[in-house]
Amino acid sequence: MEKPENCIIVIFGATGDLTKRKLMPALFNLFQNKLLSDNFAVLGIGQTAHTDESFRDKMTESINTFLKSNQVEKGYLTEFLKHLYYQSMDSTAMASYPILKQRLMQIDQQVQANGNYIYYLATFPDHFEIIARHLGQQGLQKQGKGFGWKRIVIEKPFGYDLPSAQILNRRIQQIFHEEHIYRIDHYLGKETVQNILAFRFANGIFEPLWNRNYIDHVELTAAEDLGVENRGRYYDKAGALRDMVQNHLLQLLAIIAMEPPAKFEATTIRNEKVKVFQSLCPVPADDVAKRVIRGQYLASTIRGAKVNSYRDEANVSAESKTETFVAMKLGIDNWRWGGVPFYIRTGKRLPTRVTEIVIHFKKTPHYLFTRELMVDIPANQLILRIQPDEGILLKFGMKMPGAGFQIKTVNMDFHYSNLGGNATLPDAYQRLLLDCILGDPILYARGDAVEACWAFLMPVLLAWQNNPDIKLYGYPAGTWGPIEANNLFKEPGEEWRYPCKNLAQDGEYCEL
Ligand code: BG6
Repeated sequence: MEKPENCIIVIFGATGDLTKRKLMPALFNLFQNKLLSDNFAVLGIGQTAHTDESFRDKMTESINTFLKSNQVEKGYLTEFLKHLYYQSMDSTAMASYPILKQRLMQIDQQVQANGNYIYYLATFPDHFEIIARHLGQQGLQKQGKGFGWKRIVIEKPFGYDLPSAQILNRRIQQIFHEEHIYRIDHYLGKETVQNILAFRFANGIFEPLWNRNYIDHVELTAAEDLGVENRGRYYDKAGALRDMVQNHLLQLLAIIAMEPPAKFEATTIRNEKVKVFQSLCPVPADDVAKRVIRGQYLASTIRGAKVNSYRDEANVSAESKTETFVAMKLGIDNWRWGGVPFYIRTGKRLPTRVTEIVIHFKKTPHYLFTRELMVDIPANQLILRIQPDEGILLKFGMKMPGAGFQIKTVNMDFHYSNLGGNATLPDAYQRLLLDCILGDPILYARGDAVEACWAFLMPVLLAWQNNPDIKLYGYPAGTWGPIEANNLFKEPGEEWRYPCKNLAQDGEYCEL
C-alpha cells in the first residue's frame, strides 16, 4: 500500500458527537494499524475551552467508550494522544482564522507536514460554506509548490434541496477545486458496499445476468430499529427522504445499477454512477402519492417496553408531518434496466436493523415441476447483506431427495464472520479517512452526483410540500411501516422481503 504523507488533519466540530463516536476511534485504529505516517497531527477545533491536555483526556474517554477494550492497546493510545492538539475558536468568525493559521504553522514545523492539510467539517451544515470562505480568505486553501496539498471533507447533509446544494457546490468550488472536495457518504465506506463492485466486476458469472433480461426487480432496504434518539432537532427538518434516500440509498442503487467502468479509478467509476442518477425516471407530481409512500411511527410496545411516537420525541413538533419511513418505486431509463422496477424503503423504528439488497431474478419461462405439484416455486434471489450479519445469500430450487420431483428453495450462504482469523470489517470512517489522506476520492460523492440525486427527488419534495392531500401514514413502532408500501409492487403476491418475519405484523395503521 502507498505510504501516507505527513499531514495535519484539522477537525472543525471536534467536541461534537461525530468526532467522539466515529472520527477519533477511526483515526486511532489507523494509527494502531500503522496506516498513518509517523509524522501527523490532528488539530481539533471547537468553541468549548480546552487545552491540548484536556482535549486528549476527552478523546481518551471517547476511544475507550466507542472501541471495545480488546481493540485498544494502551501503549499505542499513549503514543496516539501525543499527536492531538486543540484550538478553541469560533469557526464562523473571520477573526479566528489568523490565529488558526498561526497555530497550523507551529504544528506544521513540529511534524513537518509541509503544508499538507485536511479540513474535516464535522459541524452544523450551515457552517460549511462560512468555514470554507474563511479558510480561503487566509490563503489556507493554497496548494502546489511550497504550499503542499489541501483537501476539504464535508459531512452530510450536502444541501437541503437542489438549489441549496447547487449554491453550496458553487461556493465551495470557488475556493477548493472539485478534486480536492471530499463529500462523505459513509455508506460508501462500508466494506460490504465496496464488495458489491468486486462481486459484480471480479466474477464472470453474474455480470451476464445483470440486466433486464434476467432480473425481474430489485429491492433495497435500509431499516433501523432505533427512533430519532437525540437528533430530533435535525431530523424533524430533514425526514427519511433527505436523511437516507438522497444519499445512502441512491448511492447503493448506483453501485448496483452502474455499467462496468473502463478502469478502476475515481473519474471513471464516478462517471458511471452519475449516469445512473441521470437515468432515473422522474416521478411526475401526479404520481407521487402512488409511487412514494411516506409514514411516521406511532407509540407502541416493543418486546414489553413502551416506545414513544415520533411526535413525542424530544425536539420534534407535536404536529410534525415529517416522514420517518419512505418506500418508493423507481425506474432507470437505459438499455440495461429499462422496465425493471427498483423498490427502495427505509425507516426508523422498524422491527430490526438491516440493510440489504435483493436481486429478484425472473422465473423460469416454463414451469416444469410446478404443474404436477400445484406449488409455485419462487424465482431465484440473490441477497447482498450490507449489515449486520454481512454476507451474500443465493436462493435456488433443489429437488428434495426421494420419490417424485418435489422442489424446495435452499440457500447458499456466505457470512463474512466465517472468514475467521483477522477478517474484521473496518469501520466505514476508517476507510474513508485513510482514502482522503491518500488522496483517493473513489468512495466520496462528486458534486454533480449529489446534484443529480437532489434533482431526482425534487418533484417528490415539492409534491409533499404543496399537496396536503398526499397521505402521511402512521405505523406502530416496531412494524415494517405502512401496509400501503406493499401496494407499490406491480404483481399480486410480490411483496417486500421481511428479514425477520416474526415481527412483521399488521398494527393499527392510520392516516396522520
Ligand atoms: C446517517 C443518518 O447518515 O445514517 C442517520 O443521518 C442514520 O439517521 C444513519 O441512522 C444510519 O447509518 P448506519 O451506518 O447505522 O446504517
